[in-house]
Amino acid sequence: MRYGAFDDDRREYVIDRPDTPLPWINYLGSEDYFGIISNTAGGYSFFRDARLRRLTRYRYNNAPLDLGGRYLYLRDDETGDTWSPSWQPMRSELDAYECRHGLGYTTIASRHSGIRVETCSFVPLGETLEVWRVRATNERARPAPLSLFGTVEWCLWDAQDDATNFQRNYSIGEVVVEDGVIYHMTEYRERRDHFAFFACSAPIVGFDTARDAFLGPYRGWDRPLAVERGATSDSMAHGWQPIAAEQVKLELAPGETRQVAFVLGYAENPRDAKFHPAGSGRLDTRRVRPVIERHLEPAVIEAALETLHARWDELLGALQVATGNEHLDRMVNTWNAYQNMVTFNLSRSASLFESGIGRGMGFRDSNQDLLGFVHMVPERARQRILDLAATQLTSGGAYHQYQPLTKRGNDAVGSGFNDDPAWLVLAVAAYVRETGDLAILDEPVPYDGEPGTERPLDDHLRRAIDYTLERLGPHGLPLIGRADWNDCLNLNCFSDTPGESFQTTENRAGGVAESVFIAGLFVLAARELIGIEKARGNEAEARRLRAAADRMVAAVDDHGWDGAWFRRAYDFFGDPVGSAANDEGQIYVEPQGICVMAGIGLEDGRARQALDSVRERLATPHGIMLQQPAYGEYDLRLGEISSYPPGYKENGGIFCHTNPWLMIAEVLAGNPEGALDYYLRINPSAREAISDIHRCEPYVYAQMIAGRDAPTHGEAKNSWLTGTAAWNYVAATQWILGIRPELHGLRIDPRLPAGWGDVEVIRRFRGATYRISVRAAATDDAEGDGGPPHAARVTRLVVDGVPIEGSLAPLPPSPGAVILVEAVLERSVEIPA
Ligand code: BGC
Ligand code: NOJ
Repeated sequence: MRYGAFDDDRREYVIDRPDTPLPWINYLGSEDYFGIISNTAGGYSFFRDARLRRLTRYRYNNAPLDLGGRYLYLRDDETGDTWSPSWQPMRSELDAYECRHGLGYTTIASRHSGIRVETCSFVPLGETLEVWRVRATNERARPAPLSLFGTVEWCLWDAQDDATNFQRNYSIGEVVVEDGVIYHMTEYRERRDHFAFFACSAPIVGFDTARDAFLGPYRGWDRPLAVERGATSDSMAHGWQPIAAEQVKLELAPGETRQVAFVLGYAENPRDAKFHPAGSGRLDTRRVRPVIERHLEPAVIEAALETLHARWDELLGALQVATGNEHLDRMVNTWNAYQNMVTFNLSRSASLFESGIGRGMGFRDSNQDLLGFVHMVPERARQRILDLAATQLTSGGAYHQYQPLTKRGNDAVGSGFNDDPAWLVLAVAAYVRETGDLAILDEPVPYDGEPGTERPLDDHLRRAIDYTLERLGPHGLPLIGRADWNDCLNLNCFSDTPGESFQTTENRAGGVAESVFIAGLFVLAARELIGIEKARGNEAEARRLRAAADRMVAAVDDHGWDGAWFRRAYDFFGDPVGSAANDEGQIYVEPQGICVMAGIGLEDGRARQALDSVRERLATPHGIMLQQPAYGEYDLRLGEISSYPPGYKENGGIFCHTNPWLMIAEVLAGNPEGALDYYLRINPSAREAISDIHRCEPYVYAQMIAGRDAPTHGEAKNSWLTGTAAWNYVAATQWILGIRPELHGLRIDPRLPAGWGDVEVIRRFRGATYRISVRAAATDDAEGDGGPPHAARVTRLVVDGVPIEGSLAPLPPSPGAVILVEAVLERSVEIPA
């Protein structure tokens, strides 16, 4: 069952009923100011940091789930009828409803008793504010006297404190109202230099800033008294819960449409010019006022929307494909790329599953996210790498997270996740392959954010590599530390205290648990770095890396292979995890993916065998489960993984992030059909038809789909902020379609699944545009089996009319060049690797 449809031309998802299985959200903003907006206008806004600078209040885990938002109310001043044009929070019946989530904007339109209201919300580029462009149309045959109310509830900045410290917070809320603009200035009197504002383009007939006054005693946002009465009371908040509610009157003639804009935003004043007159304690609004005025003007709003659309066209223009597979095209061209940008902006901080106060920017997470956006925003990716590396510790290890506002490592979460450093290497490699910017390796970057400790980025990468090499266990495999990619495989933890955090609890001393996953990851990272070091002329370092990688492969060969798949780890006692010798958790997906990606077992048949084991034991129609059999009981030796009920999250859930590794591995092992099959199992668009089962948004990936052991098998959770986005994008574009940036050119190496026709790709690369056509040569089915074209690879590459040896399209002759590439694929042809 569907709750809407894709509008591919407009790059929108159109939701056609408000009661989606879960709130289906979108993001506003892509620079400093962000908002979450649901299909019923729920959500909140913040400046840079969802915890430390939250503008509006949101109530997570409420009933209904989605409460707190950009709520408008309509009142028919003739009949007293009231409703919310976004359905929530009043949930009065609507005669028509449609929500269009687009790229950086959301439009919610509805009709109720002949009044159509359409609200488009977005953040203009370069601004720290959001505009709600409201258009009300009277479709009745008679005039309509209406009241329109725009409302927000202020959050007292630090969302964590706001939700807990009531003994203080009920006394400190402050607002001022000046010329119809409501300013939220809690704590401005003391150390804050920032404030928020809410304004309206139409003259207001009244306002409220005290929540109680607007809602009325014992009422919620679903039944505000002021709306019922048709009159706000110009209340001033003194402590308690400051809000902003503004009321306008609209007299709409039959057929008339009127536009009213609301603007919600954030501003700062210089510390020495906070007040006007100086010393008066009164907010100086002189700088912000013109900004507000400007964004209430219809022409400015239209221009800002156009600029926003153009910006997204530009970003997505970096890679566009036409394969004939609507789900792949739609995700790659629009939604997957969009989600990548959202993970770039927010890492794992703020969604409807991430509260914005729990986690900042993840070190591992953000490094991986980079793989999905580096081609769209290479300069910003560069800065992200430098920011991440600056939180690295001198040991080469890393803080697991940092706060975006301060860019300092998060002590509360700490470090010791032994896979973290290797992801930095992969991120830098992806960046360098995309841009050719080897100079980034000479950039001075501090350790742990400490001025004076700057060393070239190259030094950070070496320490990242050494971090692993200096921490090898009894089998010569990397020590796992707190955990590796799988945060929940806590082999040294032994936690038996209820509620204790598995991620931060003191590990048992002397832990020698080892990770086969990190071994594979290390080999992958080391091999990437070899190319870079060579290009920089560091032959000795390249040789050292090669030797280290070879030793690691040998350790995996000797101790990482279980007979039919790769083992996962060795526990505290040196016993294998992810082995046929175990009763549960016999086979894990992660090492099968990463080891094959690192090339381990590709030549001796073990890769194929491991992938067949995955298909047999872990694959479900809803995607590949993380491990099997799921753990039935809590196991002290394994930690959080066994804390989850079977089938959820890391305990046998379909952890979507890992699935693309298997897609890539299948491509590498010569089975593109297998890759595409896995790709489509978790592709959100391909799952749209079962939205009632999937339940999360059909336009973005979710972190997890409940596995076979779960009663809710097929149900997704934790949409939006997941490494699933970047990796699926990489799997689809770089491996199935085979368009991979390399240091010395653009690799054109598609492994198209059988039955695919011609494929067209437009790829911006190093300042040029590559227009690539891939044609499958008409070959007879040499093996006569009608089966997949295992060996279908590029046999002819013609670049700007010139035939090329191999599959690497050379770097552009000049910036701005348009380069025509023709690739012909043939099956059953021996091609040198
Ligand atoms: C989740 C993991 C996540 C970790 C982050 C765990 O509860 O299951 O998916 O990586 O928390 O701290
Ligand atoms: C989610 C975390 O954000 C990610 O870093 C981790 O790798 C996965 N969970 C698996 O535990």
